[in-house]
Amino acid sequence: MEYDWEHRVDTTAATVSARDRFIGLLNSPYQATDPELFKEMMAELPVRFEEFTFIDVGSGKGRTLLIAADYSFRRIVGIELLPALHRVAQQNIASYPRTGQIELICTDASFFQFPAEPLVIYLFNPLPRLSLVKMVTNLERSLLSSPRAAWIVYHNPLEQDVILQSGRFRKAAATNSYSVLVWK
Ligand SMILES: C[S@@+](CC[C@H](N)C(=O)[O-])C[C@H]1O[C@@H](n2cnc3c(N)ncnc32)[C@H](O)[C@@H]1O
Repeated sequence: MEYDWEHRVDTTAATVSARDRFIGLLNSPYQATDPELFKEMMAELPVRFEEFTFIDVGSGKGRTLLIAADYSFRRIVGIELLPALHRVAQQNIASYPRTGQIELICTDASFFQFPAEPLVIYLFNPLPRLSLVKMVTNLERSLLSSPRAAWIVYHNPLEQDVILQSGRFRKAAATNSYSVLVWK
C-alpha cells in the first residue's frame, strides 16, 4: 500500500476481485514484490542492464516493471495470464513516468517464445510446476538455438529444481528469499 500511495498506482493484491482471486488459487495467486527486496535482488546481478531485456513472467499489476524502469534495461516485458490484472498494469504504466520501454503481453507464459536477446527473467512463483517445466523447456530451447547471456532471478524459489535439472543453469547467489541463476 505504501508503494502505491507514494507512486499513485494500484499494484496491491488487496483490490483483486474475488473471481480473480479464485482463478489465482488454481494458478498462482497475485502478490506484488516488496520494492526493497526487488532492489536487493537486482543488486546481485553482475551485468550491464542496458544490454539486457527484463522479463517478468507473471507480471500481475506490473509493480516490478515499474521498478525495473528505474534501471537501464534495453527493454522490459511483462507476461500476465489474467486479463483483469493485465489491464490494471496497462493503466499503471500509462500513468507512470519513463515507461516507454515496457511491453505488456496477456498470455499463458508456459507457451511464451522468448526473444533472442540477452535476458534477465524474473519469477515470483508465477507458475504451477508443470507450466514451469514447459516454460523452462521453451527457454532452454531458445538459448541453445540462439546462444546468449541469461539470468533468472527467482523470488521464493519453491520449484528451482526444475531449472537446475538440465545442468545448464547454475546458482550464482541465494538467500532464504531468492535464488539468482545463470545460464552456462
Ligand atoms: C506472485 S504474483 C507475482 C506478480 C509480480 N510478478 C510481482 O512480483 O509483483 C504471480 C503472477 O503470475 C500470474 N500467472 C499465473 N499463472 C500464469 C501463467 N500461466 N502465465 C502468466 N502469468 C501467470 C498470476 O496471475 C500472478 O499475477
